[in-house]
Amino acid sequence: MCGIIGYMGKEDCIPQLLHALKIVEYRGYDSAGISCLDHGKLITIKTKGKIAKLETLLQHHPYHATIGIGHTRWATHGKPSTRNAHPHTYGHWSIIHNGIIENAHILKQECPEPFSSQTDSEVIAHLLEKNNHLRGIDCFRKVISQLQGTYAIAGLHEGEESMYVAKYKNPLYIAQNNESIMISSDLAVFYGKFYSYYCLEDHEIAMIQENSITFYNQQGKSIAKQSLTLQNVPQTISKGIYPYYMEKEIHEIPYVTQSTWQQFVEDENLLHNIPWQNYTCIHFIACGTAYHAGQMGAIYFEKYAHIPCKSSIASEFLYENTLFFPKTLYILISQSGETADTLSCCEKIKSHQCDTLAIVNVPHSRLSQIATYVLHTLCGPEMSVASTKVYTAQLTLLYLLATHIHIEQSIPIEQVQSILAFTDSITPIPSSFLPKIVSYKKILFVGKGEDYITAKEASLKFKEITYTHCLALPCGELKHGSLALIDADSLVIVICTKPNMIDKINTCMEEIKARNGHIWLVTNENKKKFAPFDAILSYPNWSTPLSAVTSIIPLQLLAYQTAVAKGLNPDQPRNLAKSVTVE
Ligand code: G6P
Repeated sequence: MCGIIGYMGKEDCIPQLLHALKIVEYRGYDSAGISCLDHGKLITIKTKGKIAKLETLLQHHPYHATIGIGHTRWATHGKPSTRNAHPHTYGHWSIIHNGIIENAHILKQECPEPFSSQTDSEVIAHLLEKNNHLRGIDCFRKVISQLQGTYAIAGLHEGEESMYVAKYKNPLYIAQNNESIMISSDLAVFYGKFYSYYCLEDHEIAMIQENSITFYNQQGKSIAKQSLTLQNVPQTISKGIYPYYMEKEIHEIPYVTQSTWQQFVEDENLLHNIPWQNYTCIHFIACGTAYHAGQMGAIYFEKYAHIPCKSSIASEFLYENTLFFPKTLYILISQSGETADTLSCCEKIKSHQCDTLAIVNVPHSRLSQIATYVLHTLCGPEMSVASTKVYTAQLTLLYLLATHIHIEQSIPIEQVQSILAFTDSITPIPSSFLPKIVSYKKILFVGKGEDYITAKEASLKFKEITYTHCLALPCGELKHGSLALIDADSLVIVICTKPNMIDKINTCMEEIKARNGHIWLVTNENKKKFAPFDAILSYPNWSTPLSAVTSIIPLQLLAYQTAVAKGLNPDQPRNLAKSVTVE
């Protein structure tokens, strides 16, 4: 959360910064701003709202600068407003920050001048100015050494064509070519422009000057760092023919499912490099949508691999009195690979000398660097805050692991081809559904077994982008309390993809109807087998063991189309950010 960007090069920095900020906007979009050095003079422009608003504002300011920093914010300390927007400029310094300065209230007492924002970050600019009598890098290093918490920080110093950066726990990458040097919270900014990059490690500092980057360790000694090759470079990040990334990403599901699976066909060692025979238990840990993938993974591993499993929400796992066993494999799932809670779990597990397997989408992300083993979902960048294609790729990968870890056989590509056949199923939800769904005051999603996890994911998707209060329950649990909610204003979306569950599902549907609730059924089974319902989303060609992938698609589309019908931007839901880098 919060995206930070910096540019130093031969071109005008403002278009470069704006372009890059749009790529990292998924990290937060409460406010945005830039600072640049225009003929050595520090200029800061910032505003509440999205990058588009900043872009309009900058059209009225014909600055010429070739060095600048930019920020897009997800508010932690202080509400979204222009004064709380970054950069924070004070005296000779301007800074941008991603993270939380936990000792900001103590540090502020050292700075006598009034603060103009409610943020924890502004204190960094004040401390830099207080120490401005020191040489640039010495001043920066001294201030960084005082900070507690988490940070990726970039600073500009007036009168000096230099940029200073530092990081602890939050990501910061630096790339260089013949024309320019850029810094970014996300490698995606570098695609198409750079072929290699540096990954700044915790406590390292870099000083960027014309055509040169100097790295320092925590003790202030200059160090040599190896650049890393930028792999799997997509040519562009664009919405293509779609109005929003979310719709585009749903339509990419068949292809990312295939590429995630295909990697194991091409290199079966990926599967066998992990010593599965050493483990007698699997513990899945993740947040949000990735947690639902973990819960589905636990079902798959118990069903197909016959290994006892557990799943935990990362932020809960951190404070549980877990008993650690070396024969447990801890599988951490994360699209971004930088979710703070998930990262902290990985560190906690490693401190107990247990093995971790990270399933990540973003290559070279922090989680992929610190886990014992790593496997990738090959989805390319997922830009919409609501995860869709990566969730289905996570399910595919977990299914493949669960079904094949104990079987010495080649990976059958036919199974995944059956998913590719679903390309045709990715058709819009009939528009007649939309006015109805917005009229319900209460929406419940119910299912059994795998379908219950799908119900949870569908409910999360629906609430995060349509701002509707909804609930997910196992069918059998409805009668233990939540049935009290059901009346003529309620819609219950019943998911059933397993024929052996139909009898129990029918009982649940009868109970809902007896209380005047409305039912929409989502199924691949013959509708004649079901108790009365009000509407059906039926996809008869879903019959695949991976029905969790195919059944979530219409529910993702339902959430997406409802959000658009309500005039909301599904890619950037309010109050949220795609990458949550604070605990
Ligand atoms: C945020 C996002 C969710 C995501 C969760 C975990 O809350 O809004 O869509 O599922 O983080 O993210 P991760 O990158 O670890 O999968």
